[in-house]
Amino acid sequence: MRLAGKSALITGAARGIGLELARAYLAEGAEVTVADIDAAALARAVADLGPGAHGVVMDVARQGSTDAGFAQAIAQMGKLDILVNNAALFDAAPIAEISRESYDRLFAVNVAGTLFCLQAAARHMIARGAGGKIINMASQAGRRGESLVAVYCATKAAVISLTQSAGLNLIAEGINVNAIAPGVVDGEHWDGVDALFAKYEGRPLGEKKRIAGQSVPYGRMGTAADLTGMAIFLATSEADYIVAQTIGVDGGNWMS
Ligand SMILES: NC(=O)c1ccc[n+]([C@@H]2O[C@H](COP(=O)([O-])OP(=O)(O)OC[C@H]3O[C@@H](n4cnc5c(N)ncnc54)[C@H](O)[C@@H]3O)[C@@H](O)[C@H]2O)c1
Repeated sequence: MRLAGKSALITGAARGIGLELARAYLAEGAEVTVADIDAAALARAVADLGPGAHGVVMDVARQGSTDAGFAQAIAQMGKLDILVNNAALFDAAPIAEISRESYDRLFAVNVAGTLFCLQAAARHMIARGAGGKIINMASQAGRRGESLVAVYCATKAAVISLTQSAGLNLIAEGINVNAIAPGVVDGEHWDGVDALFAKYEGRPLGEKKRIAGQSVPYGRMGTAADLTGMAIFLATSEADYIVAQTIGVDGGNWMS
């Protein structure tokens, strides 16, 4: 029960990593609001999570939706101690085929969404004066460019940079901002990644996923459950002296 008495909001938590983090935070005694743009998946997630879980339909790319979502979450839980900025979109294309629409959408969700959710949480935490923990979901893709993944990689590099700046700015208020950089994590997200690589590299479906898993030093793809330990730790007071860091949880794919 390392998060007993804590209130957390996790964006993009109707499925995948965010949903698993919500489950783990609930098991550690936190009250959790899961926020997602997909209302139907969100309703299923909240029902599945059970007592202690609330749902808020929120588009992190729209300011009005973010403001309303944070207000609702804080009203439901009475306060906010922990934000996990997890919502993100992926796309892939060769440089010659990247569309302005894809670029705008990925930066709106992955970068602006992260910054303005972080800001909404920080404003509440500063006003409350009790500090807080903000955890951004970066990626190994933010450490290094990839031939077919220019825009997503750039958004995750921006998340790492925002984590550094916000971490430095907010620690004076007792708010720790850090990030987790997963490697390759199995789930519906990676099914979409695999389909895009199948299209651009002429591979059969499933092949890219198999190769990605085989190339992880640990010997397999990650699971959402592999990320919960770090996400819990960074939300506890044991992580008070960790500031502005992006920590890899990737089976050894990247060494910092
Ligand atoms: N799966 C991986 O291999 C992997 C690797 C590195 C980093 N990550 C990062 O981890 C996080 C979670 O990834 P995942 O695999 O669970 O992805 P996912 O696609 O399974 O889940 C993302 C969730 O975000 C929601 N979402 C999308 N746009 C939104 C918006 N505008 N507002 C609110 N919610 C929105 C989706 O509806 C979905 O429920 C993301 O930040 C992702 O970039 C994933």
